[in-house]
Amino acid sequence: MGMAACLEIEDLCFRYHDGTEALKGVSLSIQKEEKVAILGPNGAGKSTLLLHLNGIHLPQQGVVRVGGKEINSDNERQVRSKVGLVFQDPDDQVFSPTVWDDVAFGPLNMGLERAEIEKRVADALQSVRMWEFRSRAPHHLSYGQKKRVAIAGVLAMDPEIIVLDEPTAFLDPSGQEDLFEILENLHREGRTIIIATHDVDMAAMWATSIIILKDGQILAQGTTKLLVREDLVKAAGLRFPLVSQVFEEAAAGLGQPLPRTVKEGKKLLFKLTGH
Ligand SMILES: Nc1ncnc2c1ncn2[C@@H]1O[C@H](COP(=O)(O)OP(=O)(O)OP(=O)(O)O)[C@@H](O)[C@H]1O
Ligand SMILES: [Mg+2]
Repeated sequence: MGMAACLEIEDLCFRYHDGTEALKGVSLSIQKEEKVAILGPNGAGKSTLLLHLNGIHLPQQGVVRVGGKEINSDNERQVRSKVGLVFQDPDDQVFSPTVWDDVAFGPLNMGLERAEIEKRVADALQSVRMWEFRSRAPHHLSYGQKKRVAIAGVLAMDPEIIVLDEPTAFLDPSGQEDLFEILENLHREGRTIIIATHDVDMAAMWATSIIILKDGQILAQGTTKLLVREDLVKAAGLRFPLVSQVFEEAAAGLGQPLPRTVKEGKKLLFKLTGH
């Protein structure tokens, strides 16, 4: 039995006002509870694509369906409570006078009760470790702190599908680890998670599905094996995951598949050293 696609895109085209064609016929389908990493060079169209997933951009041509329902100007608000999007640039997202207000903005608009809003805001801010900043003005925070607040704002809305544009950029290593844990928890609770990233090491470790975008078109969609396909990696301006680079010759010598994550690398190392 095939799983239900929770997100479907058919022949999506998008052109900005200045004539730039950012998306040129993108079709893809994402199943429920997948962890999807979208990769591709600067200007490939990743952010433009993500902005279509919750109705911020509406298709100029083609269709975007969430849970089988086409996004259009009549239901974009509804879609926004189903699909939460963390923008690439937190300055585009974080605007309230205090951090608390900022995270409460979504839940308030959803018409939730005060006690529920307070609980959601506290949980979200604690999970990104920004609770002690709740009374601060967001525009005076560091970039990484703002990004955490933007992530909290989406968590507080508790959407079924969570989309994050470059979530790890500007986060310190422990912030990246926190984010990982948050994403794993959300996934365990049955949510679908989609990120755009340049971090091939993270993509290799985290994603169940990889989408490679270039010049507004899909170059490939598949498993993390795509990340060690030389032709593809070269065409997309990517690089092999570091672990794959370390073990390239050793794996070939042993006739073993190329490890893509630290865990797989460690396993191969044990094989090599006989321990
Ligand atoms: N507001 C805009 N007006 C005009 N062109 C735009 C606008 N935003 C993006 N573009 C153009 O659309 C194309 C796709 O941009 P987009 O931001 O979607 O790429 P991206 O893959 O997210 O890149 P990055 O890795 O740098 O974040 C690029 O050619 C970009 O210059
Ligand atoms: Mg982008």
